[in-house]
Order: sequence, then structure tokens, then C-alpha cells
Amino acid sequence: MEPRGAARGGGACRAFTFKDPKSPQESLRVCIPEVLDPQYGMYVWPCAVVLAQYLWFHRDQLRGRAVLELGAGVSLPGVVAARCGAKVILSDGSNKAACLENCGRSCEANGLQDVPVLGLSWGEVTPELLLLPKQDLVLGSDVFYDPEDFEDVLLTFVCLLKKNPEAQFWTTYQVRSSDWSIEPLLHRWKLDCVSVPLADFDADQSDLAGSSLPGSHSIQMMILTRRTEEENLLQENHRDSSIASHFP
Ligand SMILES: C[S@@+](CC[C@H](N)C(=O)[O-])C[C@H]1O[C@@H](n2cnc3c(N)ncnc32)[C@H](O)[C@@H]1O
Repeated sequence: MEPRGAARGGGACRAFTFKDPKSPQESLRVCIPEVLDPQYGMYVWPCAVVLAQYLWFHRDQLRGRAVLELGAGVSLPGVVAARCGAKVILSDGSNKAACLENCGRSCEANGLQDVPVLGLSWGEVTPELLLLPKQDLVLGSDVFYDPEDFEDVLLTFVCLLKKNPEAQFWTTYQVRSSDWSIEPLLHRWKLDCVSVPLADFDADQSDLAGSSLPGSHSIQMMILTRRTEEENLLQENHRDSSIASHFP
């Protein structure tokens, strides 16, 4: 049975405890209020627990870094990042009032007072997006769940790269169809993608942080970055030589 308690303001609160087998005295417990509602951003998705575990595993890199979570919903990764010392901004669709409210409730439930919550709809280049300060990390758990939105999510990251070309997008993806792929879009937007094996951060188990949420789902952890000029040239040369090989 997973730990549940009452959230401030009603609703159920799901507790997650992140531990470090190498340093048993260190642990982090967060409590995420959930609402039973068919909307996507009302409860913690398996991808969120995997991304939160990745953040916990790399907590040494988070202190003082500017972190923006996209499509945060109940915001488990953003809350973990903030509790690990990052300067976090949470966001969800600008037309998703209930999800934006959830972001605030999750902060409140974890004693986080200085975490701004912003309406940011993927693919929309709005003043809110353009006026954001430079971000070091962008987080997105289960934001690639509708192929119609894939390019919009990437476009938002590409906009953020304008302010900080070194920014990274840490994202978890739940495999729902083998036909779906972001690969052609990564080429179009000149992005690189590194897939991180779950075993690298102890996420290759059915139970994580005291939760059985990841269960049997097939989840991938990816790090997206801007492709360097050198890599762009290599790609173009590779494309030119494969075209040339068809015209001897
Ligand atoms: C599958 S849920 C994942 C929620 C949360 N990240 C998690 O993993 O628990 C997708 C989230 O993306 C948000 N979302 C959907 N469409 C969006 C859009 N166009 N722009 C911004 N956020 C959006 C939803 O409101 C929801 O919170």
C-alpha cells in the first residue's frame, strides 16, 4: 500500500521518499496532492517519478540552477528540484487553470514559498516565455504523449535556448506507440538527444521512491541539447555523401 495522507486544502496527498543506498543518512520526502480527475495534469504520472529519481540522483548539480518545468501538472520533478536547492519555475498550459492551481498546491504542501507558477502553452511564443530569465535546465515529464504536440514542446525548448544555448532539456517519455518518434523533429530543430539507461540512476525497478507508479510502464529518460556547429557540419556532410552515393 502506498503512503497517502490528507493534503492541505483537502484531497489526497501521495508521499514519495527518495533514498540513496550509498549514503543511507540522506533522504528526501515530498508530498504531492492529487485529485481524482480524468484530466492529465491532476495526478503523478509514472514518468514523473522516473524524472524525479534522476533529479534526486543528480542533486549535486541542482543547487542554485535555474530550472523550468513544462507541463508540470502536480509537479513532482519541479518540487524535488526545488527541495534540492534549484531556483524553480513551474508551468502548465495557460488555459489549464486547474493544473496551474495544482502546481501551487504542490509547492504549498512541501513548504516551498518562492516558486513562481506560470501559464506557458507549448509552441506559443508569448511575452511570458520571452521574458523568462535564462534557464539552465528545462524539465518535462510525460510531455510527449500526443504526437500533435511534439514539435510545440521542442519549439518551446528551442526558444529557451536563445537565452542560454547551453541549456539542457531533461525529459522522460512513456512509450505508448512504436510508431511515434521525435527523431525527425530533433533533426529539424538541430537538437541532440542522449538516452540515459534507467539502471544508471537506479530507476530500473518497479518501485521507486516508495511508489509502485513506474510499474511495468516502458519509460525512457532523455537529455536534449542544442546541436553544436561541428555536429551540424558532420550531419550535412553525412547527408551530402549519402545523396552522392545514389548518383555515381
Ligand atoms: C501527461 S500529463 C503529465 C503531467 C506531469 N508532468 C506528470 O508527469 O505527472 C501532461 C501535462 O501537460 C500539460 N499540457 C498539455 N497540453 C499542454 C500545452 N499545450 N501546453 C502546456 N502544457 C500542456 C497538461 O496540463 C498536463 O499537466
